[in-house]
Amino acid sequence: MRYRLLSALVASAALAVDAAPAAAATYDYIVVGSGPGGGPLAADLARAGYSTLLIEAGGDEGDNPTYAELATFNEAANDEATRWDFWVKHSDDPAREMKFKHTTWDTGDGTFYIGLDPPEGAKHLGIQYPRAAVLGGCAMHNAGVCSLPQEDDWNIIVNKTGDTSWEAHKMRKYLTRIEKNEYLATGVSGHGYNGWLATSRGDAGWVADDSNPGTKIFKKMAEVLGLDPKHAVEMANGDILGADEPKDTTNAFYNMVQHGGKDGKRSSPNNYVRATLADPKKYPLTVQLRTLVTKVLFNTTTSGLPRAIGVEVMEGASLYRADPKHIPGTKGPISQIFAAKEVIVSGGAFNSPQILKLSGIGPAAELNKFNITVIKDLPGVGEQLGDNYEGSLLALGKAPVPIPGLVTALFRTPSAPTKKRNIFTWCGTFSFEGFWPGFPTDYGPNEFECALVHMAPKSQAGTVKLLSADPQDVPDINFRFFEHGGEKDLQELVEAANMMREAWQAGGDAVRPFEELHPCPGMQGDKRAANCTDALQAEYFKEQAYSHHATSTCAIGADNDPLAVLDSKFRVRGVVGLRVVDASAFPVVPGAFPSLPTMMLSAKAFEDVLADAGKLSGGSR
Ligand SMILES: Cc1cc2nc3c(=O)[nH]c(=O)nc-3n(C[C@H](O)[C@H](O)[C@H](O)COP(=O)(O)OP(=O)(O)OC[C@H]3O[C@@H](n4cnc5c(N)ncnc54)[C@H](O)[C@@H]3O)c2cc1C
Ligand SMILES: *[C@@H]1O[C@H](CO)[C@@H](O)[C@H](O)[C@H]1NC(C)=O
Ligand SMILES: *[C@@H]1O[C@H](CO)[C@@H](O)[C@H](O)[C@H]1NC(C)=O
Ligand SMILES: *[C@@H]1O[C@H](CO)[C@@H](O)[C@H](O)[C@H]1NC(C)=O
Ligand SMILES: *[C@@H]1O[C@H](CO)[C@@H](O)[C@H](O)[C@H]1NC(C)=O
Repeated sequence: MRYRLLSALVASAALAVDAAPAAAATYDYIVVGSGPGGGPLAADLARAGYSTLLIEAGGDEGDNPTYAELATFNEAANDEATRWDFWVKHSDDPAREMKFKHTTWDTGDGTFYIGLDPPEGAKHLGIQYPRAAVLGGCAMHNAGVCSLPQEDDWNIIVNKTGDTSWEAHKMRKYLTRIEKNEYLATGVSGHGYNGWLATSRGDAGWVADDSNPGTKIFKKMAEVLGLDPKHAVEMANGDILGADEPKDTTNAFYNMVQHGGKDGKRSSPNNYVRATLADPKKYPLTVQLRTLVTKVLFNTTTSGLPRAIGVEVMEGASLYRADPKHIPGTKGPISQIFAAKEVIVSGGAFNSPQILKLSGIGPAAELNKFNITVIKDLPGVGEQLGDNYEGSLLALGKAPVPIPGLVTALFRTPSAPTKKRNIFTWCGTFSFEGFWPGFPTDYGPNEFECALVHMAPKSQAGTVKLLSADPQDVPDINFRFFEHGGEKDLQELVEAANMMREAWQAGGDAVRPFEELHPCPGMQGDKRAANCTDALQAEYFKEQAYSHHATSTCAIGADNDPLAVLDSKFRVRGVVGLRVVDASAFPVVPGAFPSLPTMMLSAKAFEDVLADAGKLSGGSR
């Protein structure tokens, strides 16, 4: 497969700066990054009356239909207008890396090669991990899938820090505050109707049609999951964001919810930031686009701890080398901007640790290697990188499975170590096999998949490490998948694949047999093919698992935890006036999908920042 690399063809727009801040170079708050963590927080702070500068490396594609419509998310994630390509590793084992089928190479002639038999002289890039540099962050190119963390994913913060404000039942109020529910009748308890984040879902009515092979599969899935197929219609409309059950230990179907409106429009921090700017109340929000924050500035002459007083920025588009439009050698003018109260870093799970390290906050040995003055030796910065493991059961049916939507279920596989559900699946006529330039592969109308997301990976051994002190450079990212408890997690994925495969056989002669593409290539009839062993499938998932929900690289943790980067109020340990508010703050992977949990976390952070606003005013510390 070859895809055109556009970088050489795009004319330089390197120095365009949008909405440059007016005379004042000092704000109360500076927020770095406008994704689910930073975007809503900046808008909330401005609405509370604080002068706030939101700095975003990317531009604004809010009116671009590819981003404004949720349905075109694959195009958005491939689009060079916003794409940051991180080329990551999944392990320390080069031989294992060389088995990943979508390994990507730079051929040197303006094209990528994807596969394991690269042309002579091609440069190995790695595994593509797309991120969106744009107003709204990755919530502008993601699929918008919403689900809540498992309750323990919040409660573990209480256990670690003693801060009871993180109790799962207390976190729900942030969902109610931000949500603008468009799929339920008004007034359902535990939901919000006046927030900025539209939520909606499709029509699951097709499940009422018993002659649909998809319905047959759905009902068999119910059986396999220990549910009563008689309640298919009711189950297909299950509310995944509902408040009213001990969800985490109950297998269930849901009607998939996305952060978008009934009209198909994407809803994201982009909308909220723009609504805040446009509001007649003229909130004191300034948004500076196409600006790369290169470091946080500190006052170290204060009597107490070093204090964050602002940021250094480099202005211009495509300055970061993850940007395929970056032109080698391009730099922009550097300047400093000051914050009277706080700096809040929300660059996402790769960039927040990089920004902290460039600023002198991180493992001292690593900073010393690059002659970065150590402000605070914090060994946990860039550690504990975690992610959902994702894999898929993908096949070609004899004919298309005629379902107009998706089947979504959360369930526990037999060997899961606790009573909690460990797998999120969505099944339908699509193919999703991870990321590479030009993804996904279209296998035609007969393609059928159950995507499998492991919600509770036992290992979070990944790292984000500097390769230089140059802020335009991309760090080294290694997920170290399956490092701890990997055999168990793989077995759980295999069990999930076996359960779904079994359910598919109920689809009937109209659609089967299924010719499986993976994990067990070949024809699957009534019974699983004899050569489709658990061991073979585990090996497949180990080599081919993919991910796109990175978290935990600046994790909240206990006072006595050497890897804790933040306290329970998002404050960076050992300095004053600096927080990290984004997916890097989660100590454990928050369920199956981090976007909504990160927006909830951002809403919580707003309260925590306000609570300290009086204490930190005026630069007196
Ligand atoms: C293709 C894809 C599909 C996904 N699908 C889903 C889904 O369906 N559901 C779901 O829940 N999650 C999904 N996710 C994940 C989800 O979108 C992210 O977990 C979430 O956006 C993380 O939010 P964040 O605020 O931590 O970081 P981000 O969204 O990454 O935002 C960080 C922002 O900071 C900016 N920034 C970074 N560094 C700097 C700097 N130095 N200076 C200035 N600005 C900077 C970036 O440009 C970016 O806009 C998907 C992710 C991808 C890549
Ligand atoms: C929190 O600690 C209690 C008591 O040790 C334990 O029973 C519980 O499982 C812990 N919960 C989480 C989420 O870690
Ligand atoms: C640093 O703090 C000291 C002591 O409070 C103060 O006098 C000085 O002006 C501060 N410097 C900057 C750059 O803010
Ligand atoms: C760090 O500084 C030392 C002494 O000035 C110099 O020899 C070394 O090359 C520098 N290292 C880097 C990575 O810049
Ligand atoms: C397993 O058997 C099927 C036929 O049942 C065949 O198509 C497939 O290639 C075999 N796979 C392996 C790995 O041998």
